[in-house]
Amino acid sequence: MNQGNGAPAGATPAAPAAGPLPRVLVTRRIFPDLLAELRRDHDVRDNQDDAAWSDAQLRERMADVHGVLVDPTRRIDAGLLDACPRLCVVSNVAVGYNNLDVPACTRAGILATNTPDVLTDATADHAWALLMAAARRVVESDRWTRAGHWQGFALDAFLGAEVHGATLGILGMGRIGQALARRARGFDMRVIYHNRTPLPADAGAPLQWVDKAELLRSADFLVLLLPYSAATHHAIGAAELAQMKPGSVLVNIARGGVVDDAALVAALAAGRPGAAALDVMENEPHFHPGLLARDNVVLTPHIGSATHRARRGMVSLAMRNLDDVLQGRRPQALLNPEAWESRRRYRAE
Ligand code: DGY
Repeated sequence: MNQGNGAPAGATPAAPAAGPLPRVLVTRRIFPDLLAELRRDHDVRDNQDDAAWSDAQLRERMADVHGVLVDPTRRIDAGLLDACPRLCVVSNVAVGYNNLDVPACTRAGILATNTPDVLTDATADHAWALLMAAARRVVESDRWTRAGHWQGFALDAFLGAEVHGATLGILGMGRIGQALARRARGFDMRVIYHNRTPLPADAGAPLQWVDKAELLRSADFLVLLLPYSAATHHAIGAAELAQMKPGSVLVNIARGGVVDDAALVAALAAGRPGAAALDVMENEPHFHPGLLARDNVVLTPHIGSATHRARRGMVSLAMRNLDDVLQGRRPQALLNPEAWESRRRYRAE
């Protein structure tokens, strides 16, 4: 991508190497200027119509490519990889990579990459927006106001939960969790979290590691930031929901499937939690209809990282990861470093 070639800014870019360019598939629409940049050094098959390709169409389009820039809703599994003999790199345009069978990539010598860091703050901001919206009933009262119900000020209208000074619980304390905890400081919140491994003591006070039961019991606001895997499937189910404080708020900005949404619909009816705000749902976009029926649920369509800056940053990083692999360089965000030595190398063919 004519980057990192040592040329000073503003210098004439190096001429592309002679010979055929590496073939690259992009599974979804991306920013046109970034696509144009990708095209400079790659033979790109794009999907700027954003068509919903069937699995068979994806397989056909991937069969002879050297790299794929893939969106997080596309499952890349062993069967598909078997059908792509030239594939050297699967570059996920997301930090979450539960859509990739990374061990299968490793077995095939295919490098897998993702896009950490560039979306941390945007996602923490959105988690905060969801938390505030649910606490202060922003969406519900907006709907009510637009519907023409407002007759005048009332002291008891749309009473919500106080965020300031409350206890924030974070399940899954990675980069985004820590960014969220920093936001909570401005609201004088007590922050507790649960992670398999507690953070080092100097990671930033005042964060307190607690076990999962204590987290569920004590949080006024519980934000889920777990990666999704077989081990975290339904990490929040009926039993966990029943342990939450009455009136508390559950925020899921991790992945659908971390919460048992059917159990959540039942739990909301019982007031534990008192409200939920979900950016991700099981089987999205065909999520549980019971969520739509409830006023105490805020829903957004998997837009946690959807700022101009973060999404462009994700696409740019995914492009850089892909290009690095095809140029023989170790990519910045490599998910299977164990595959590096035995990786497939790009050959123009
Ligand atoms: C991610 O990066 O994992 C997000 O869910 C996609 O924005």
